[in-house]
Parts: sequence; C-alpha cells; structure tokens
Amino acid sequence: MTRFLIDTDTAGDDVTSLLFALRWPGVTLEAVTVVAGNVYLEQAVTNALLTVEVAGRSEIPVFAGCDEPLSRPLVTAHYVHGSDGMGESTFPPPSKQAQREHAVDAIVECANRYPDDLEIIAQGPLTNIARALSIDPELGRKVARLWIMGGANNSLGNITPAAEFNFYVDPEAAHAVLRGRFEAVIVPWDVCVRDGTLLAEELAPVVEMDSMLSRFYFAVNRSAWDFMREHPKGPGVDGVSHPDSLMMAMAIDPSVIAASGRYFVDVECAGELTRGYSSVDLMGFTDQPPNAEIVLRADKERFTEMLIQMLATG
Ligand code: BDR
Ligand code: CA
Repeated sequence: MTRFLIDTDTAGDDVTSLLFALRWPGVTLEAVTVVAGNVYLEQAVTNALLTVEVAGRSEIPVFAGCDEPLSRPLVTAHYVHGSDGMGESTFPPPSKQAQREHAVDAIVECANRYPDDLEIIAQGPLTNIARALSIDPELGRKVARLWIMGGANNSLGNITPAAEFNFYVDPEAAHAVLRGRFEAVIVPWDVCVRDGTLLAEELAPVVEMDSMLSRFYFAVNRSAWDFMREHPKGPGVDGVSHPDSLMMAMAIDPSVIAASGRYFVDVECAGELTRGYSSVDLMGFTDQPPNAEIVLRADKERFTEMLIQMLATG
C-alpha cells in the first residue's frame, strides 16, 4: 500500500498532484499539509480544501503550516498561477475548514504513527519539513521516502538563471532538509519542464473527455498556461507544465522514472546571484556520500496516460 502525506503550496499543478493522490486507486492519503509559496498561506489552504472537496474526499484532513520561509520574506508566484493560484477561477469557498493542529506538528505525528511506512511528497518550499525536522531530528529516519520537487540539476532555473522556485523561496529549509538523512528523491525542474510539459495537442484527449475533473484541471491551470505561452519569463510554448504531478505520478508508479542517479546535492543560501542554486555533484568533486536520488529523465508517455486516466475518474 502507498501511504502519502502531501506538503503543498497549493496552486496550479499542486492541485493536479493532489487530485492524483485523492483519486488514484490504492493510494492512502493521510494528510495534506500546506505551506506558503506559490500563494499566501491562507489562499493555499483554501485551495487545498477546495481540491479535496472537488475530488469527493473531504474527509482528508488539511493542516495550515508556515506562512513564511525560515528566515526570509516570502516570494510568491501569483504572476504564474493567478491571484487565487487557481487560474482566476473564482470558485465558491470550500465548506470545510483546516484542522486546528499546526501542519508541522501533524507531519511529526504522522511520521511517528507510521514509522518506515509514510512517504512525504514535498511540492512547495521546504519550510514545513525543515521545521518538523528541527522538532524531531530523527524524522528523516522514520519516513520511508521524501519526494522533493525542487532545484534544477546544474541547469537553468525558473525564477532566476540559477534557481528553481521552491528552493529559491526557502533555500535554508532546502539546505537543512538535504542534511536530514531522509531517503530523498529529487525531481528537478529541468526534468519537469522537458518531460512533464504537455502541449495543447497532447492535452486534446483531456479536452474531449469534458469530465468534471478535466474542466477543473483546465480552470486551475488557465493562468499557468497563459504564462507558458505568453509571459516574457515563460518558455514560450503552448502547453502546461506538471512539476508536482509528475513527481506524484513517480511516487505512485516508479516506472515513470526513466533514469535516475544517486548524488550529493547541496543548496546555495548565501550567493548574491545563486540563492537557491542546487549543486548536484555529478562528478564526485566534493567527496561527499550521496544524499539523494536525482531523477534524470521521466517517461512522458506513461505520465500522460496516467493523467488522462486520473482525470477520467470523475
Ligand atoms: C515549482 O514551483 C511552483 O510554482 C510549482 O508549484 C512547483 O512546485 C516549480 O518550480
Ligand atoms: Ca508547488
């Protein structure tokens, strides 16, 4: 059985990743913990509550977590995902509220409740996970696997030339987590953008499907799609990127990982030009033992198939 906890800055593709965990048969989703990132915390919590409701899974508890990075002001990605993080969709408010417990305590508690059995899917800045680690320094040993969408494998970032958004927003958290002795799998931006961007023609079956979930998917991704096509800082392609949901598909079905390797990864906190840069020691320069498995290639065809299958379930 696959037992997940998702830590998310819920907006855009975070929502698709949540839908996978909420709708895919055989997945047990223990909790959704929310962190500030793409949007402010309150909005990200609303988006998570709305998503569990749309998926018909309102029984899944949602916990609000850290509203800012460990030691820096928050940087958001409203310019990608819209002011609501949901493609300016003006959805009605969710009917349920977040739990009273803080997300960081929920993470620690859940890991201790299911030792060696819980996989954490971290798809936002790593603030909540770093705080949980500071409360329970053995967390990394208790969690079966920590999936991280973050960083780029020594290649172009998506918020600065050097950095991917999640690591840029809270580099200190990423730095601490990578030293946390987790069984970590990193899905970096370069793989996501190359193998996880689906072009308009590849999404045609989802358009044709016209299911409740497919309509929700297109609404939530509307701003991100515009960003991809038109924004001067976007890649200029007519399609949608799926960084978080590509990682989720890998966690559900490891055959989506087409190639990976184990390397020492570190994150730059201090650099003036390189804040959040993830250095992947491909050549063994540092003489440090590997601390993560880095995904190098993804099976785009299998991912596309899974996305279509999932969106057809409701
Ligand atoms: C990451 O940043 C966010 O905007 C996405 O949700 C994803 O987690 C990609 O860099
Ligand atoms: Ca995210």
